[in-house]
Amino acid sequence: MHQDELKQAVAQAAVDYITPHLNKDSIVGVGTGSTANCFIDALATIKHTFDAAVASSEETASRLRERGINVLELNSVQQLRFYIDGADESDHQLNLIKGGGAALTREKIVAAVAEEFICIADESKLVNTLGTFPLPVEVIPMARSYVARKLVGLGGEPIWRQGVVTDNGNYILDVHGLEITNPTELETEINQITGVVTNGIFAMRSADILLLATPEGIKQLD
Ligand code: A5P
Repeated sequence: MHQDELKQAVAQAAVDYITPHLNKDSIVGVGTGSTANCFIDALATIKHTFDAAVASSEETASRLRERGINVLELNSVQQLRFYIDGADESDHQLNLIKGGGAALTREKIVAAVAEEFICIADESKLVNTLGTFPLPVEVIPMARSYVARKLVGLGGEPIWRQGVVTDNGNYILDVHGLEITNPTELETEINQITGVVTNGIFAMRSADILLLATPEGIKQLD
């Protein structure tokens, strides 16, 4: 099975999972990336069964609107039933690395508000220990060098993602060489560096459910 077909299959599985819980007042949080894009396409087929979506990036907001789904600002929303998004890595406890698409901060905010965070991925994203995928860290531009030095002090090798500016006007450092054995501790420690907006470890708010596409079918981890 091709990777695109796996992404479409897991996106459809997420729609099947949420559909019985939606009503005309429901708001759905939507992530960013190629798997989230497949989810948006599948979500469009049930767009009359819920009220609106909240997007984790400008790119996702555009794709939702193009498919006729109403997009709301998070500040105007009281309750978010679900957040559905991909990941760059997940461990077996559903701690994640995210931010390969540079949308980590808004993704983390929308995930924090949601009642239930459903991560969708193909099986290549499941790992025993996070850190093979370089950890994205969003930084205020003037703090880039300072934060990079601090990340070296934590044992990482930060590389500035050249030419990328986030939706929030910031830069991304991709930190190589970390073996993340305690995701909650490292998430907290990096977030305490002055100039860091947030980092791509999702451990304090991990996923509630991981839907994993395999050639044998969809597996659910929770
Ligand atoms: C976006 O910033 C990321 O967090 C994505 O969720 C992550 O990179 C997964 O993307 P793909 O679904 O394209 O692999």
